[in-house]
Amino acid sequence: MRIKLNLLLCVLVLFLECCLGRFLVEKNSLRITSPKSLKGSYECAIGNFGVPQYGGTLIGSVVYPNVNQKGCRNFTDYDASFQSKPGVFPTFLLVDRGDCYFTLKAWNAQNGGAAAILVADDKVETLITMDTPDEGNVANDDYVEKINIPSTLISKSLGDRIKKALLNGEVVHINLDWREALPHPDDRVEYELWTNSNDECGPKCDNQIDFVKSFKGAAQFLEKKGFTQFTPHFITWYCPNDFLLSNQCKSQCINNGRYCAPDPENDFNKGYDGKDVVLQNLRQACFFKVANESGRPWQWWDYVTDFSIRCPMKEKKYTEDCSDQVIKSLGVDLEKINACVGDPDADVENRVLKAEQDLQIGKESRGDITILPTLVINNRQYRGKLSRPAVLKAICSGFQETTEPSICLTSDMETNECLENNGGCWQDKSSNITACRDTFRGRVCECPIVNNVKFVGDGYTHCEASGALSCDFHNGGCWKQSHGGRLYSACHDDYKKGCDCPSGFKGDGVLSCEDIDECKEKLACQCPQCKCENTFGSYECKCNSGLLYSRENDTCIGRYTSSSVPSIWTIILVAVITLSGGYAFYKYRIQRYMDTEIRAIMAQYMPLDNQPLIIPNQEAHDDI
Ligand SMILES: *[C@@H]1O[C@H](CO)[C@@H](O)[C@H](O)[C@H]1NC(C)=O
Ligand SMILES: *[C@@H]1O[C@H](CO)[C@@H](O)[C@H](O)[C@H]1NC(C)=O
Ligand SMILES: *[C@@H]1O[C@H](CO)[C@@H](O)[C@H](O)[C@H]1NC(C)=O
Ligand SMILES: *[C@@H]1O[C@H](CO)[C@@H](O)[C@H](O)[C@H]1NC(C)=O
Repeated sequence: MRIKLNLLLCVLVLFLECCLGRFLVEKNSLRITSPKSLKGSYECAIGNFGVPQYGGTLIGSVVYPNVNQKGCRNFTDYDASFQSKPGVFPTFLLVDRGDCYFTLKAWNAQNGGAAAILVADDKVETLITMDTPDEGNVANDDYVEKINIPSTLISKSLGDRIKKALLNGEVVHINLDWREALPHPDDRVEYELWTNSNDECGPKCDNQIDFVKSFKGAAQFLEKKGFTQFTPHFITWYCPNDFLLSNQCKSQCINNGRYCAPDPENDFNKGYDGKDVVLQNLRQACFFKVANESGRPWQWWDYVTDFSIRCPMKEKKYTEDCSDQVIKSLGVDLEKINACVGDPDADVENRVLKAEQDLQIGKESRGDITILPTLVINNRQYRGKLSRPAVLKAICSGFQETTEPSICLTSDMETNECLENNGGCWQDKSSNITACRDTFRGRVCECPIVNNVKFVGDGYTHCEASGALSCDFHNGGCWKQSHGGRLYSACHDDYKKGCDCPSGFKGDGVLSCEDIDECKEKLACQCPQCKCENTFGSYECKCNSGLLYSRENDTCIGRYTSSSVPSIWTIILVAVITLSGGYAFYKYRIQRYMDTEIRAIMAQYMPLDNQPLIIPNQEAHDDI
């Protein structure tokens, strides 16, 4: 039995290798910014684990370790910490390919504090995709899911050149750029999930269903709002003609060997067979077709999660009956789904599965689907781990810039990369102002705008307040001191740069400004009648013998100046008298007028015994 099983698996593998050979390596760009001799853009291949920064960039400085150059052992044993320090570029750890899994190298690099791992190929060849090891090959599978740094494979020749530059004591700065890793042509993202209903294949299946469960909310939101168009897909194989009558094909295939799936437990005598999986895959595909036709494609996510919860293989509920119940509870037309599924025992083609098989072969930019599960976003295969934030980040980067839906910009999408070491960005410790900003495009180091104060700089090693209001931040780096309830500052809120001691002070304006002693330095108040007294930031000058001090002319002047020209006080006095006289007269007139008017009105109702008044127009109205 084992031999025959292996034979069939071999056939399947051969089929995959011969006919689905066009596997595309997904790339991002790597730009070396220094040293000059290496400046330029290079290709590198995105690893199929960790979290590539889709839509974003990451700048770092390359470190090639002295020992453990393949990164197969952890780095904590050595004195090598690649943890990025504030104000210093994050570390990109360069290791050599070989001796252990790519994932282990990445895991060790991550634990050593590296921000990304560059794996240098060990032979001259075209770039390959670094993948996760198959299940069972890793003693401790757990860590693969915990890798969250991006990983990238570079060619042997580039690796050699970088090593040589480092050996020469040069600093190698690299900008990893994933902005063009996915096309982002418009305001709708089309994506496909190539999946499988098998729930007994170990960590890979668990991870797949965990992903569907955790991504459901976001997927449904995006779909309902028209931001995305999602389609689920299912890989099937066909039974080679020579094996059509074998037990293997009979138990693994439906529709007479046309559509097959591997046995879930790799044991034909136990549990569910491959054909149960194909059939459930077909039902899921049909569910999507029917739901989509009724305008509610997002219900697929409900069906798949509900089915996995209510009908698991473990509990022997992976049945048509159970599936029917889930379909009914979601209010979807079971008749239509049954019609779509058709008769699995009939020797006929199934339209849905036929279409799925045709789509497995890649076209245009997409490449063949050979890894399960595979996510295809805007017709490119997604690389990286299947987790909600990582995938959402990739989908978000598939929107034309500025058309991203709000979900892409929520705090939910933040990767918290700023929490650790401030993401290697500039930070002002005393005020907590930071250049690190968490976005779905990864963390960016960008000088911020805080309380309308704009900061400028490279975002990594320095930022400084600039422009209007820059004095609000650390007083613009200038001297200040408060004295007697007044603030003296060398910062000026205009666009003028630099610090300048206020008048009455002298100094560099940055560290110190000192009060100028105007009296001692004979700068003011030097007239014979003057008595000078220095104050903080100024001076006081008093004059003897009733004279007044004129600050403007720095001299003492007589209190009452007599001259032919009337003094300002005389003019004011005359004006005041004239005005108050006029006002009194005006008041009198008003009073008089009011008097006569009121009398006139009252006289209409009662006789007034005062002496007659001159009441204008009175006769005409007085006729009672
Ligand atoms: C590092 O590896 C050594 C053995 O190679 C192991 O004893 C140690 O626990 C590891 N440290 C970490 C942090 O994994
Ligand atoms: C789903 O429905 C939309 C709109 O009706 C259509 O454009 C799309 O092709 C359908 N998808 C599938 C896989 O049938
Ligand atoms: C800066 O943030 C830390 C941690 O959030 C906090 O403990 C500290 O008080 C903050 N400092 C200032 C000046 O806000
Ligand atoms: C100050 O001096 C100017 C001429 O030097 C004179 O015209 C002006 O009247 C003086 N001011 C006072 C307040 O004495």
